[in-house]
Amino acid sequence: MKAAFVTRYGGPEVLEIRDAPIPDPGPDQVLVKVRCIGLNFADIVGRFGAYPGTPKPPYIPGLEFSGDVVRIGSGVTKFSGRERIMGYSKLGSHAEYVLVNQYYATAAPEQMSYEEAASFLVSMLSAYHGLVRLANLHTGERILVHAAAGGVGLASVQIGRHLNAEVFATAGTDEKVELAKSFGAHHVINYTTDAFEKKVDSITGGYGVDVVMDSVGGEVFKKSWGLLAPMGRYLLLGVSSMTTADGSLTRSMIADAYEQMKPIFPPGLIHINKGIFGFNLGLITGKERYFEEAAGELLTWYRLGALRPLVGKVFPFREIVDAHRYLQNRQSVGKVVVRMDE
Ligand SMILES: NC(=O)c1ccc[n+]([C@@H]2O[C@H](COP(=O)([O-])OP(=O)(O)OC[C@H]3O[C@@H](n4cnc5c(N)ncnc54)[C@H](OP(=O)(O)O)[C@@H]3O)[C@@H](O)[C@H]2O)c1
Repeated sequence: MKAAFVTRYGGPEVLEIRDAPIPDPGPDQVLVKVRCIGLNFADIVGRFGAYPGTPKPPYIPGLEFSGDVVRIGSGVTKFSGRERIMGYSKLGSHAEYVLVNQYYATAAPEQMSYEEAASFLVSMLSAYHGLVRLANLHTGERILVHAAAGGVGLASVQIGRHLNAEVFATAGTDEKVELAKSFGAHHVINYTTDAFEKKVDSITGGYGVDVVMDSVGGEVFKKSWGLLAPMGRYLLLGVSSMTTADGSLTRSMIADAYEQMKPIFPPGLIHINKGIFGFNLGLITGKERYFEEAAGELLTWYRLGALRPLVGKVFPFREIVDAHRYLQNRQSVGKVVVRMDE
């Protein structure tokens, strides 16, 4: 099969399409013919070698995909061998075939295209885990979503809206904030032209917000933490600010981003009455029931029309390098999808 390998840590150019053997499914695994790959920012951070648990190159990256089951392992009970599925593979989806544990895949709804199915799980599960499971978001609460036009951002806006929260959304261009608005954000802020912390403070009359969904970190963290109201919950799920638009990432940039987020002193949280969660969907291993429940509820919301994945741009597999570059340099909205060549 053809597979895109990370040949050494670095920018998009380190990706190379090479031949690789089709893998054999283990007892709990299914072998899937990949139709579409959903790109995630974690693929970028991993390619730089900065994502926890990234293997040494050469390796095949890729967290998520849609495709058709072609073989099943001896212990597989969930699939029979012909289903059209979407799944979370952790690694390996940048290829014509991928292995996935049966418990981290689910049948794709009939009306969902392969492109949409490859765009659904990781973003929606991340937003769901943060807002529903950790923050326990309630009707009428105010949430602030950063990078709101991105994969996790649009998922968070939609889940916030569905749960009747008041949604504040920030993004880096006027087009992106308009998109967040069209997906249900009540207040949108282009943070390159407006100081988002001042705007939120003024719209809420100094109250701030109850929940922050922050995947940017660094200076954005510092400003957003100040906006969190008493009883507030802060969700830190990524530090995109550690990369630049030209695709560089150095130890000093990581250190700078971390410096802005000086460790929070737990006893101090009692005095200010706020909480913070860090979470990582990549460490979901061993939570099979959780995946089933969360994906099940998200698909129910999808069928009700409350959620829809946005396929922002589709690249053919042979242009995988351009697809990575496009996501990395902040051009993307919604999800970037790579379609396998026929
Ligand atoms: N912890 C978890 O379990 C988990 C799961 C999924 C994703 N994540 C994290 O969530 C974040 C979003 O992931 P995603 O796949 O949905 O990506 P995305 O939001 O679609 O794309 C990244 C967006 O981040 C914003 N951004 C801000 N500063 C940036 C910078 N210095 N360099 C590049 N982009 C920057 C850009 O939007 P603007 O132009 O609007 O600023 C950019 O479009 C990432 O940090 C990712 O690692 C975490």
